[in-house]
Amino acid sequence: MAEQVKVLLVGAAFSADLHMDGYSRCTDIAKIVAICDKVPGKPAEIAERYGLSDVAYYDDYKTAIDNVDCDVVDICLPNFLHYEVAMYAFSKGKNVITEKPIATKVEHGIEMLEAANKAGKKLYYAEDWLFAPALNKAMELVEEGAIGRQMYIRARECHCGSHSPFAQSIEFCGGGSMIHLGCHPIGFMLSMKNNEWTELVAMTSGGKENNMWHTGMEGEDWAAVMMKFADGTSALLEANYLATGGMEDSIEIYGTEGKMAIDLTFSSPIHLYSIPGVNYTVEKAEITTGWSRPAVDEKYNLGYVAEIRHFMESVRDNKDAKVGLRGIDGLEILKVVNLIYKSAKEGVKIINPALNK
Ligand SMILES: NC(=O)c1ccc[n+]([C@@H]2O[C@H](COP(=O)([O-])OP(=O)(O)OC[C@H]3O[C@@H](n4cnc5c(N)ncnc54)[C@H](O)[C@@H]3O)[C@@H](O)[C@H]2O)c1
Repeated sequence: MAEQVKVLLVGAAFSADLHMDGYSRCTDIAKIVAICDKVPGKPAEIAERYGLSDVAYYDDYKTAIDNVDCDVVDICLPNFLHYEVAMYAFSKGKNVITEKPIATKVEHGIEMLEAANKAGKKLYYAEDWLFAPALNKAMELVEEGAIGRQMYIRARECHCGSHSPFAQSIEFCGGGSMIHLGCHPIGFMLSMKNNEWTELVAMTSGGKENNMWHTGMEGEDWAAVMMKFADGTSALLEANYLATGGMEDSIEIYGTEGKMAIDLTFSSPIHLYSIPGVNYTVEKAEITTGWSRPAVDEKYNLGYVAEIRHFMESVRDNKDAKVGLRGIDGLEILKVVNLIYKSAKEGVKIINPALNK
C-alpha cells in the first residue's frame, strides 16, 4: 500500500466533520481523496473548512466507489444507509469504516460481516468512547486496582435531541435514543466485559405520543437498561433526548475499595460566565450565555482523533481494529440494542441467548 491510506468519505455533514478533524491530524498516514454527499456543494464546503484542495467531489456513492482509487470507504451517513453503502463498497473490494450503529437491522449487520469476509476486506466500527483519553485513563486506574473489584457501573449518553432529520424515523434510524446514543455505553460495557453479559431488563418511553418530550419522533426519547455480566458486575445504561444544557457522556464505576466518576463533556478547565455569549461551548448546548464550561478540544476528548488514527493504522497494516471497534463488535452491540427493545416492549427479562449455545 502507498504511504498514505486513501480515504473516500461518504457523507459530508455532522459526523463527517468529526472524522475530517481526525484525518486532518493524521496526514502522515491518511489522505482524503474524495468526498461524496447527495447534496451538491456539501463535499466542497467540508473540504474547504479543512483546507483540502486536491479532492474529488461526488453526489452519488456508487459512482464515487466505482471511480475513486481508495483503500477505505468511510460511511458517515444516516443509519439505514450503512448497510447498502458497505455492501456496495465490499462488492468493489474496499475496506469500510462505518459510523454507529452498524446497521438498523441485525440481519443487515450479519450480511455486512459476511460480505467483508467474502471480499477479504475489513469492516471497522466507529466507537469513539473507546479512545476517549479520560476513559482510557480511568480504565488503567481500574486495572491497577484503584477501586478494588467492580460491582456496579452507571453509564449514559444524553442530550436534547438529534440534529439529524433521519433520527426522527424508525425506518431510517432503527429506533430512538437507545440505538442512536445508547450504543456508546453499550459498546463500552461489552468491550470491557468481553461481551459476557448474562441478563438484561429494559424500559423505554415508547415513541410518539408516549414520549416524554419529543412526541413527533417515532423512536423513544428515553430508554434505560439494567444488565448483568458474567463477572458479577451490574450496569445501568441510559440514553435519552431529555437533557438540556449540552451532551452528557458520563460513567460512574463503583468498586469494593473506591469509586470513580468520568465526565467526558463537562470537565473543561474553563469556567466561563458570558453575558453576550460565544459561538460554541459544548455539543448540543442550546445557549452559550451565562455560566458554561467551553470544551478545549472536544473532538480529541471524545476520542475521534485517536479513533481515526487507529483505523488508518489498521487499514495500512491490513489488520482488524482492536476489540470494540471491529464489525463483529458493532453487530453484538446492535443485537443487544434489539434485545433491549424486545425487553421493553414485552416487559420481560432477557437471558443472553449466546449462553445456551
Ligand atoms: N460517533 C458519534 O458520536 C456520532 C455522532 C453523530 C452522528 N453519528 C453517526 O453518524 C452517521 C451520520 O450522522 P450525521 O449526524 O452526520 O447525519 P446528518 O444528517 O448530519 O448527515 C448525513 C449526511 O448524509 C447525506 N446523505 C444522505 N443520504 C445520502 C446518500 N444516499 N448518498 C450520499 N449522501 C447522503 C446527507 O445529505 C447529509 O449531509 C449516523 O449513523 C450517526 O449515528 C455518530
